[in-house]
Amino acid sequence: MIVLGIESSCDDTGAALVNDSKEILGEALQSQEEHKQYGGVVPEIAARAHLEHVDEIISVCLQRARINLNQIDAVAASAGPGLIGGVVVGVMTAKALSLALNKPFIAVNHLEAHALCARIANHVEFPYLLLLVSGGHCQILVVKNVGEYERLGTTIDDAAGEAFDKVAKMLNLGYPGGPVIEKLASVGDETRFSLPRPLIGSDDCNLSFSGLKTAVRKIVESYSPDGEVEHAILPKQDVADVCACFQFAATDCLVRKLQRAIKYFKQKYPDGQHLVVSGGVASNSYLRSALKELAEKNNLEFAAPPIRFCTDNGVMVAWAGLERFRLGYTSPLDFKPRPRWPLDEDAPKAPGAGGVKA
Ligand code: KG4
Ligand code: ZN
Repeated sequence: MIVLGIESSCDDTGAALVNDSKEILGEALQSQEEHKQYGGVVPEIAARAHLEHVDEIISVCLQRARINLNQIDAVAASAGPGLIGGVVVGVMTAKALSLALNKPFIAVNHLEAHALCARIANHVEFPYLLLLVSGGHCQILVVKNVGEYERLGTTIDDAAGEAFDKVAKMLNLGYPGGPVIEKLASVGDETRFSLPRPLIGSDDCNLSFSGLKTAVRKIVESYSPDGEVEHAILPKQDVADVCACFQFAATDCLVRKLQRAIKYFKQKYPDGQHLVVSGGVASNSYLRSALKELAEKNNLEFAAPPIRFCTDNGVMVAWAGLERFRLGYTSPLDFKPRPRWPLDEDAPKAPGAGGVKA
């Protein structure tokens, strides 16, 4: 069974072919550089770039796999949530291929693609506890099965990756912020500035990064002659120290809320054995090692996708498509792309509004 997956929901155009033996037969990825100067993704620029590159990315993927289109059993695409212009490009391409090849189309929830991605390279059984941290999302979920999720908590403001990106922008470090902050943090002093841990005392699994971002802004402003963050001049070492303190605080918030979630997970899902992290921020090694430690402390196995599959890519979409396909879940050709598409929509909701008590 071979599934082609197409990713185009943000600023990466990706395609991959995977089979049910967990082999990645071929893949191709084009990460858009065009957004760097804007400090964030510009939707219209992203949509145009997807349009320009998607056909070639699929061709390169097929060539690398030495597979022709007729050998494919199904075509999957990220159908939301995400930037609608890009999502439409991927979905329409997948539908056209599906129609021309007379093979099923599978609309993949982009968050589900992140959620299931760790199962390609690791032996991870359902149910598992998942921290999904990307540029647009920050959620703690129980992955009960393909298509079955219980959301335990979410950010009430910024996503974790968004906070990394905004802090990087304040420090004039470009976009995306995560990788450069991680690099600088490795030579910074994480005890230099004291930063808040927003929402940490709340009796739920929700998160908040907006206060943390504001606290960083105040530090940066203190280096500016006129109090404007754009005019701040920070010595190199101070930039590294801010990065280290921010990364430490953000990780600490995630770890502490996950500790609550683990308590709930263990009670309600005693068979669950894994703590998984996925999404772009999961490529952060500092966060990965903190989560590994947390898992060990709680007698759970830690699993994460290989770093190159944490940020958006075609492999995770192809894999999620394959997981759906082998259960018999396919989508009609009139499936409408969804800019918003909560993962736990069809699943039983967690008790209490906005998250569970844990
Ligand atoms: O999953 P992803 O590629 O796109 C979305 O679905 O949002 O995640 C992109 C996000 C960006 O905010 C980026 O700054 C963050 O992931 N990111 C990182 C790292 N690498 C990427 N954040 C922290 N540390 C990293 N090493
Ligand atoms: Zn993503």
